[in-house]
Amino acid sequence: MSGDWVKVCADDAIDEEDVIRFDHGGKTYAIYRSPQDTFHATDGLCTHEKIHLADGLVMDNIIECPKHNGRFNYQTGEARGAPVCINLKVYPVKVEAGSVFIQVQ
Ligand code: FES
Repeated sequence: MSGDWVKVCADDAIDEEDVIRFDHGGKTYAIYRSPQDTFHATDGLCTHEKIHLADGLVMDNIIECPKHNGRFNYQTGEARGAPVCINLKVYPVKVEAGSVFIQVQ
């Protein structure tokens, strides 16, 4: 079942190669803007110890967790570096009329 589209922010509120935290419906998401100017969304908490990924570092298509430097591909959710081994959930994103939306489930 697909969920609702929820407005996150204006597209220029996220710098290229950066990430912001977005809270909605009791959940936390991380919203990314890649160096190629594409937008992406994942669960906001690391699958290792539930640290906020928005406090981490974006490098190309990787988010590095600020706590133990675990890495994920934020475009696919794939866990890419120890100690993380559980993939991140990813969410559909669209940009319309200058605003970023994610489809929550
Ligand atoms: S909490 Fe993210 S790598 Fe440990």
